[in-house]
Amino acid sequence: MSFKPQENPLVHEIVCSMSRLQGLDIDGLYSHPREATEEELTKSVWLKGHADIGSITILYSQPIGGLQILSRDNQWRWIKHIDNALVVNAGDAIEFLSGGYYKATRHRVIQPPADQRSIPRLGVFYFSMANDDAKLNPLLESPVLQRIGTTKYFEEGEAPTMEQWRRNRTALYGKSQLKPSEKEVGVEEEVIHGTVVKHYN
Ligand SMILES: [Fe+2]
Repeated sequence: MSFKPQENPLVHEIVCSMSRLQGLDIDGLYSHPREATEEELTKSVWLKGHADIGSITILYSQPIGGLQILSRDNQWRWIKHIDNALVVNAGDAIEFLSGGYYKATRHRVIQPPADQRSIPRLGVFYFSMANDDAKLNPLLESPVLQRIGTTKYFEEGEAPTMEQWRRNRTALYGKSQLKPSEKEVGVEEEVIHGTVVKHYN
């Protein structure tokens, strides 16, 4: 079974049906090539760098480039397409529950490479969350975390539940007054539940 959304008849049919139920055309789900002026205005960034809210996000690897992750050396790197592969990104909840052992994947979407720019791009994602009532504290029963220690993200007793974190991050999206980071160039920050959430330009 192919996992290319553009070529997979099952995925295509499901996405088409969902679009029709909303009175939309399938075309509206694709990211289309943008005008040069828009690329200039956004510096070719289609979706700013961020981490997802939940535990794990699964993406279908797709042949049209655009997705990049921020690697450990602080460089944005392309996610290479592999046929039939899934891309798995860790989200905020995993970082909090593991006390920083697993870092949330900072990722962004930029203009595809020159040879792919004229082709519409379709992203298919699966976002998963911890249970709504799960407190996002480190799982201290882990022998690994007991041995290596944990990063503190929230004050004692202040950790949000998954539901609170999801609701607050979603509600503040695009509305927060972001402040430029004092430590990192090109990074803006907001504080949610007392912990810093970064946005990468
Ligand atoms: Fe994302």
